[in-house]
Amino acid sequence: MPSQPSRLSASSDPPAGGWTSADEQAGVARRLVVVTVVGSGYVGTTTAALLTALGIKTYAVDIDEAKVDKLKDGKAPFYEVGLDNLVAYGIDNNYLVPTSSYEESIPHASIVISAVGTPENADGSPDLRYVYSALESIAQNATGPLIYVQKSTVPVGTGRAIIAKYAELSDKPFSYVSAPEFLREGTAVVDSIEPDRIVVGGDDADSKHIITTIFRDISSRRAEIADIADQPIQNLPEPIAFNMSIESAELTKVTANAFLALKISFANSIAKLADSTNADVAEVMDAVGSDKRIGRAFLNAGRGYGGGCFPKDVKGLISSAKANNVAMDIMTAASNLNDSMPSYIVDRLKDELGELETKKIAILGLAFKAGTSDVRKSPGIKIANLLQQAGSKVSAYDPQAHNEALADLDEGIALLDSAQLAIKNADAIVVATEWPEFKDIDYSQTTAKLLFDAMNLLDSSMIVRNGLEYRGVGRRLKL
Ligand code: UGA
Repeated sequence: MPSQPSRLSASSDPPAGGWTSADEQAGVARRLVVVTVVGSGYVGTTTAALLTALGIKTYAVDIDEAKVDKLKDGKAPFYEVGLDNLVAYGIDNNYLVPTSSYEESIPHASIVISAVGTPENADGSPDLRYVYSALESIAQNATGPLIYVQKSTVPVGTGRAIIAKYAELSDKPFSYVSAPEFLREGTAVVDSIEPDRIVVGGDDADSKHIITTIFRDISSRRAEIADIADQPIQNLPEPIAFNMSIESAELTKVTANAFLALKISFANSIAKLADSTNADVAEVMDAVGSDKRIGRAFLNAGRGYGGGCFPKDVKGLISSAKANNVAMDIMTAASNLNDSMPSYIVDRLKDELGELETKKIAILGLAFKAGTSDVRKSPGIKIANLLQQAGSKVSAYDPQAHNEALADLDEGIALLDSAQLAIKNADAIVVATEWPEFKDIDYSQTTAKLLFDAMNLLDSSMIVRNGLEYRGVGRRLKL
């Protein structure tokens, strides 16, 4: 068995007299460390860009040449506010080295951060093939001790399996650190520079200390980084760092996402009851969420959660529980409830319109949430497709996600150049993503008689003033 490296390398030993402060340690780490981030998705690109903003030389390796080329041009491979500025800074200062070559990027690195995708298998378990193929390439090209940091969301138990696999592939020392990521798409930069917490799990105290120091450094230098990214900071307290076992860190990540998904599905269950009883779910959740033990966040009812994380992580947790013979009915219920929301909205539209066939329906919003062009598991796309399948004539608009949506939208759905154009000749409008600009549309310029606010975004009285009927998810009409 290879032994755990106790330090980054001999040259990262404390200077004579020892390190005097956390700042000094961070400064030493910055100068000595070379990091390779594997995977240039949301997590990988944001992490690599933030490291380069600290002045750390960082390779960003991805097998997708198109992503590498975009990064070399100083741009993020996807839309994420503030990230282009950070990528451009890394490229202009020669800190960021995008490449598709493991041979180029691994031999120099003392820290490798894995942020590859873990898509969903048909049975709901995460597909770890990219994690293991990246591990093989890392092992083949490692020239010395590595701290391997897992940022991808993986099921509990994966870290131990990776440690064993690496020992088969390489005789070089390997220290595994699980450092799950909690950033949200659309706010990736600000979430990362002012995180609520840093979670670091591993067997080796020195490795965990080095990784914690680097992530703490990002948040203590948030003002400089926010300046480069041209993003605001809220001056939140420094993040709490949680030091734990690999297994606890793995489980912390999926538990956090599962709990947030549970809150949303809970709010949507109450919204369905509100719809049947003339209560207003937003009023209920404002009052309920004011209880500090509960909190108001993630209790917004609507068309349900989508994206690359919640649907997958909830199903992943259910599958982990099953593999360990543990019942996780609470999450199965949350997942089923979420899956029911797009058809619940389509059924309610049918109730309102009498029939869906031949009706012209405008969908505003195809991204799974505002601030991103990501359409993975997007409820807006599901609603558009269900309506198209029911015979409606669907026109759609999203400020960012048209290219991404094309592959998932059923044939015949028209993508319009503006929201105003999409609603112009419609019979009904559905708001399916909470883009703030949807509040500023001129709703008097439409033939539609009904607006279905599947995000509970709009002021109902404004819609009524414009001559439309307003329906939300679990909302009582306010005049
Ligand atoms: C989520 C978590 O919030 C992040 O902490 C985590 O790091 C990330 O997954 C991940 O695992 O990578 P994200 O998927 O980017 O982040 O987006 P969220 O803002 O959490 O929204 C997820 C979905 O829930 C969206 O479709 C959103 O519209 C929906 N949502 C959110 C609601 O329907 N109601 C709410 O009250 C909040």
